[in-house]
Amino acid sequence: MRKKILAGNWKMNTNISDGLQLFLEVKSAWSQTQSHGMLCIIAPPSTHLAQFSASPELGLHTAGQNCSEHEAGAFTGETSAAMLKSVKADYVILGHSERRALYGEDNTLLKRKVDTAFRHDLIPIYCCGELEHEREAGMQNEVVKRQLEEALFHLNASDFGKVVVAYEPVWAIGTGKTATPVEAQEIHSFIRSRIEDRYNKIVAMNTSILYGGSCNPNNADDLFAKKDVDGGLIGGASLNASDFMQIANSLSKCI
Ligand code: 13P
Repeated sequence: MRKKILAGNWKMNTNISDGLQLFLEVKSAWSQTQSHGMLCIIAPPSTHLAQFSASPELGLHTAGQNCSEHEAGAFTGETSAAMLKSVKADYVILGHSERRALYGEDNTLLKRKVDTAFRHDLIPIYCCGELEHEREAGMQNEVVKRQLEEALFHLNASDFGKVVVAYEPVWAIGTGKTATPVEAQEIHSFIRSRIEDRYNKIVAMNTSILYGGSCNPNNADDLFAKKDVDGGLIGGASLNASDFMQIANSLSKCI
């Protein structure tokens, strides 16, 4: 079901005490916000999850930043989907460009991770987006289409209907450059139309498609005003409760 979603990807930042303080600040501010069915999803380092108690009844959830494609066993350093579920994560970010670029995750592997997540009742927040040279060559649609087709479009309509898609142009992540609202709308609409082609109009209209890449309190209003932008996956600005809640406020104005 299409919802307005604000997700914070903390990446590899905060120790447990700073992280807990930040989480509690966000939780307290969120619980005082009229959330109107909006969701807030916090993806801290996995070491923190057991101590972060979400409030699903208030639309506040937690997420892993990644999970293994394997169930369990001799995979040193990995975190399984079952482990994330056991510390009450409801979502898992998959396909983040940092995982693709730095850890060699490709669409074939991500398809397996998507399936593993579903086996453990974790909802994927599936990231897609093009590199700078791909955008310069006008290949962004082609790249994103392949990322969707190869890792997500094998799902049946009922499972796909649970997935959250995050469009994150790689050249905008942590760079201070953002897609313009017009660029974001163009590609979000393209993503929605590919979902309609693969599934149907109802599934496409019900999919939440988030924008990520240097989203901050100054640009959130204009990005979220676009009709196919259903929220944000926020990196740097999610590490400051006040900035994050200002972005939440921008999103709440679009309801
Ligand atoms: P920034 O908001 O820091 O650009 O990061 C975006 C991101 O990668 C979220 O997953």
